[in-house]
Formats: sequence, C-alpha cells, structure tokens
Amino acid sequence: MVLRYVKKSTIQSWYPTIDLEGHIFIYGKLGSGKSVTGRNIVEAYHDNRGYKAWDLYGGERHEGIYWVFPSQDKTYWERMRAVGNFDEEAPKQYKINLLYPYFASLLPKKLPFKAGYVTSKVFTIPLKEVTIEDIKCVLGTTSDTSGYVWNEIANKVNKKDTCAVLEDLTKKFGGTNTLLNKNFIIPIMREKFLMNDGCSTNLDLKAEADDREAITVLCLDFVPEKFHLFVMDYIIKRLTTMAKDGKIRKKNLGFIREGATFFRADDETVTDEKIKIFRAKLSSYMRYSRSGFNFIVDCQSPNETKGILSGADDMTILFKITSPADKEMATELYRKEKRMRPDQISDLSFLEKGEAYICSTNLRSVQKVKFVLPRSCYWKKEYPNFYKYHWDKMGGDWKSTATIKEEIDTLFDTNKDKYEAEANAKKKNRGKIKEPEAPIAKPNPDFPFGENFEQVKGANPTVIVENEKPIKYQSILDFNGSYD
Ligand SMILES: Nc1ncnc2c1ncn2[C@@H]1O[C@H](COP(=O)(O)OP(=O)(O)OP(=O)(O)O)[C@@H](O)[C@H]1O
Ligand SMILES: [Mg+2]
Repeated sequence: MVLRYVKKSTIQSWYPTIDLEGHIFIYGKLGSGKSVTGRNIVEAYHDNRGYKAWDLYGGERHEGIYWVFPSQDKTYWERMRAVGNFDEEAPKQYKINLLYPYFASLLPKKLPFKAGYVTSKVFTIPLKEVTIEDIKCVLGTTSDTSGYVWNEIANKVNKKDTCAVLEDLTKKFGGTNTLLNKNFIIPIMREKFLMNDGCSTNLDLKAEADDREAITVLCLDFVPEKFHLFVMDYIIKRLTTMAKDGKIRKKNLGFIREGATFFRADDETVTDEKIKIFRAKLSSYMRYSRSGFNFIVDCQSPNETKGILSGADDMTILFKITSPADKEMATELYRKEKRMRPDQISDLSFLEKGEAYICSTNLRSVQKVKFVLPRSCYWKKEYPNFYKYHWDKMGGDWKSTATIKEEIDTLFDTNKDKYEAEANAKKKNRGKIKEPEAPIAKPNPDFPFGENFEQVKGANPTVIVENEKPIKYQSILDFNGSYD
C-alpha cells in the first residue's frame, strides 16, 4: 500500500496506478519538500509497481546515502497511524546497493555494510569502453589533437590493458602536451579507475538491473568533482541504452536531485562547457523514456527545464512556488487547458511543506495532495557527517576496501611498463648493425646455360670457388683441454 495522508476532504490521496511512459518533474522553492517527495515517489513505484529504483544523483549534500536507514521519524509515524488508515508498518528497511566508483586517492579504508540489507560495491570501468565522447564530460570540448590521440590509444589497447598503459601510449601518439593528457589521462591514471575488460571490480550493470528488489544508489561522495559527470554519464548512457535494446527489464526509475545543476546549463551565464555537454546528453537519453527508463528530477524553477523536456513529462508536481515568473511558467499549460483554476494557482504561494499540486498528463484537472514522509530515512540539515558519526551511531558494520585496492594495484603494476618495454625493444632492434645482405648477382653475359636457367640468388658463376678443406672431426678421447 502507498502511504498517503488525506488531510481534508478537499485534498485527495494519490497512488501510482499506472506505469510511467514519460518522466516526473518536481518544482518548488528551497526547502519546499521536493527531494523528500522524490524519494517517496521512487519508493511508491518500487513497492507498488515493481520498478527498479536507481538513485543517480544525491546533489551536493550526497543525500542518496540515507536510504540505508528506515525512517527515523517515530513520533511522526505514531501520529500518522492515529489519523491515517495504513495496513503496514510505514518505516521500512530497504535492501540497498551502494555503488562507489574506485578513485584511489579518495576511497576510504572501509565502507558501510549491513548483512542482508546494505552492500557497498566499489567499481571500476573497462578502459576499452571509454570513448572521446565520454571524456568530454570531464574536458568540455576537446581539440582535434586530443580526439586523434584518444582514438589512436583506443585502437592500440587490448582487452587486457588497464589505464596503466596510458602514459606510454600518450607519449607514443604525441599527446603529452594536450589537455586530454593533463586533465584526463594523468589524473585517471593516478586514480586507477579504468581497468581491463575481465577485471572482477568492473561494474556489472546488467546484474544490478536484475536485482529488482535492491535500490541502487550511486555514491559520488569519494569521487573528485571533475569526474562526477563522467561517472554519471557512463552509467546513465549504458542503462538507457540497455533498456532501449531490451537487454535489461523495463520499468526503471532514475532519481536525480537538484536538476538545476545540469539543466540550467542553457543559461548563458553558465560557462562550464562540460555541464552543457552533459545536459545535451541527458536530454537525449531522456527521449528514450518509452523504452523503459524513466527519470524523476527535482528542480527549483521550471525555467531550468524549459524547452528541452516539453512533452516528455508524465507528471509534474508543483510544491510551494512564490516567484511570479516561476509560477507563470509552471502553470501556463494547465491554465490554457483549464486544468488549473486561478485560485489553485494563487494557492501555490501558500502551500505547506509536503503539500503540492499534481499535474498528471492522464488527468483532466490538477490534484492537490499532501505527501507523507518517505518510509526510508532522508537527509536532514541537523544530521552530522554520515560516515564519521551517523553509520557507527546507528550500529552499522563496515567492509574493508583493502583487498579491492590490492587487486587493482597488482593489475595496474603488472600492466604498467608493457608499451614502454615494447617501444624499448623496437628501439634496441633499430640500433643493431644489420647483417649485410649478399649482393644480388648481375646476369653474367658469359653464363653458359641460357636465360631461362634459374640462377641461385647470390651465386656468381664467374667466381672461382677455392677447393674446400675437409673438416677434421676431433674425437672426445683426443680432448685434453679444460671445461673452465
Ligand atoms: N511531506 C512532508 N511532510 C512534512 N514535512 C516535510 C515533507 N516534505 C518535506 N518536509 C520537510 O521539509 C524539509 C525539506 O525538504 P526537502 O529536503 O525535500 O526540500 P527541498 O525542496 O528538496 O529543498 P532544497 O531546495 O534545499 O533541496 C525536510 O527536511 C522536512 O523536514
Ligand atoms: Mg532538495
């Protein structure tokens, strides 16, 4: 059962009764309840309609990690039970898979673990899969030289190679002075995030997608910020493509908080090229919505998603909005189609936390709802650092990352000098004095056997061969020397 609190007769309860075809957008001012409700809706689709849940971006506060606890709001739920009509305990301990990209410099020595419920998975990705298009999420636009160097590297590396070979290959293809080398290759080698094809730590997205019960949370807490978009793009691109190609089951819901971080990129003031590139990629992945991967995105202003996603929504949820311009933009369509009345539009400014208008494409009029809090724990401003204080305090266990580190270090070290050794061997051979080839004999006009007689290469019939001296074989018995 979805838990929705029916507050007054004018407020209706809401349940997800049909599967998604498009995406869900949540708008509202700071602190109006967007992220909490996003969490709540993900739970609703997961619990009631069998959706695989992907928490893809926790924003700057890394809010995704709090899935690991059931809701901590005991008094809230007691009160709700008294007024509501719920047929199960609301707080729920979900099964959570935490995905941690392996970035050697930041990965902590231990990560959260709770038998049966919380699994931390440290992952790498195969070097061979990375294209110059993926790298643009780190570099922004790339020069032709960088593109050439990476393509040559990609052609040269084989399935057994890790990022350890990149230094030698970059030199080999003349890329030492490129931004590709300085801003991508050098740092990614230091971090050892790109491994060989068969590496046991490589992310298995198919297996992850098949684990329908688990909520999969991408944790970027220990990833240098310049690689956030690269990691997200790698995962989102592959998931949406796999869903489109029928390689994973349909019904996937990906949650992105603070969508403005990426979508505001059409704003001229946003100069960071890599954000613009990521935004374009994300909007193109979102176009595959009907193939089985849907998104739920929270944003402060509808201005942020303007244009790129019109018509791609199944549902828009409007929380408290006070800015007249934002209100105007958010309600334009519903006003025109007479789905939202003027008094409802005015009401947007006075909504309480958790109250919202749902504008669903399959409904003729908007609905006012009060969302209950999620069944799992969500980020609150009074919470201390999760890893330093929270997890221990809540009695959570830890899993060491030492063996993973060892495995990756060994693979990296054994692969390190491969191309340098190859280049050195070639150099050595180049330096060697070559045996002079026997001169090809010129046809001798005096050759007595005619033109068609096959001459042996190098044989010169004019040379007078001296009588060979017979080889004298020494008997072992005649030997009176020393073996020293
Ligand atoms: N349905 C609800 N019922 C009661 N309180 C709520 C509800 N939703 C949110 N709140 C309260 O509002 C606070 C802020 O919620 P939330 O973090 O979702 O806001 P937000 O709109 O995402 O904020 P930001 O713009 O800063 O990301 C929560 O910590 C919670 O205390
Ligand atoms: Mg938020």
